[in-house]
Amino acid sequence: MRTKIVAGNWKMNKSLAEAQALIAELTNVIGGIKSSAKIVVCVPFPYLAAIQNQLGSGRIEVGAQNCSEHESGAYTGEVSAAMIKSCGVPYVIVGHSERRQYFGEDGALLAKKVDKALAHQLTPIFCCGEPLEIREKGTHETLVRKQTEDSLFHLGAEAIQKVVIAYEPVWAIGTGKTASAQQAQDMHAVIRQHIAGKYGQAVAEAISILYGGSVKPDNAKELFSCPDVDGGLVGGASLKAADFTGIINGIG
Ligand code: PGA
Repeated sequence: MRTKIVAGNWKMNKSLAEAQALIAELTNVIGGIKSSAKIVVCVPFPYLAAIQNQLGSGRIEVGAQNCSEHESGAYTGEVSAAMIKSCGVPYVIVGHSERRQYFGEDGALLAKKVDKALAHQLTPIFCCGEPLEIREKGTHETLVRKQTEDSLFHLGAEAIQKVVIAYEPVWAIGTGKTASAQQAQDMHAVIRQHIAGKYGQAVAEAISILYGGSVKPDNAKELFSCPDVDGGLVGGASLKAADFTGIINGIG
């Protein structure tokens, strides 16, 4: 059985007080949730230590939204994987489409970030996914295969199993337009087969692949019931306790 994960990506939202209030709300309701899925909240850098302390070693785990490809040193404004780890935080998102689009992060750079995360025992949540024009051209499978290849296929068979992959079609992020369950399943199967082609079926079967892009309480259950969808990476709907818990309930 693969690990099921529901991860929230708060992006650049909320003050510290608002962030702590949301965590307090989530911890209140989380006891009543039956799902055995891992629950992660990826919060802005300045809140990592505070939120990690607030949550302790409880049911909800913490992630960062990015890390530097460098180990340490004169990189003003950057945050290293080692720093994230030193806050007690176990996860980091790598290669979110907003990082690719607005900060020019490419496959080679993301390979270095994945390496740094793994070197510091962080679990990278590696994002891939095609923009609308690629989907319309019909070359989305080729692009997503290449994205995984460029940033993950330098890893050994043991290392790649420590990575969580998030398939997030860019046209579905923050747009309210979700991929259909069939579209999600098809792409997740493409990614898993691609990994199997290089590393073998057993390795591919061990890797959790999350779907992201307008996941909501009312579509979570259908998406999560697809055989190759192992959970979700949730943006907008992770900012409200009721919506996020509704989504977690959808994983069963
Ligand atoms: P969304 O964002 O749920 O708001 O579409 C998903 C993401 O960017 O991870």
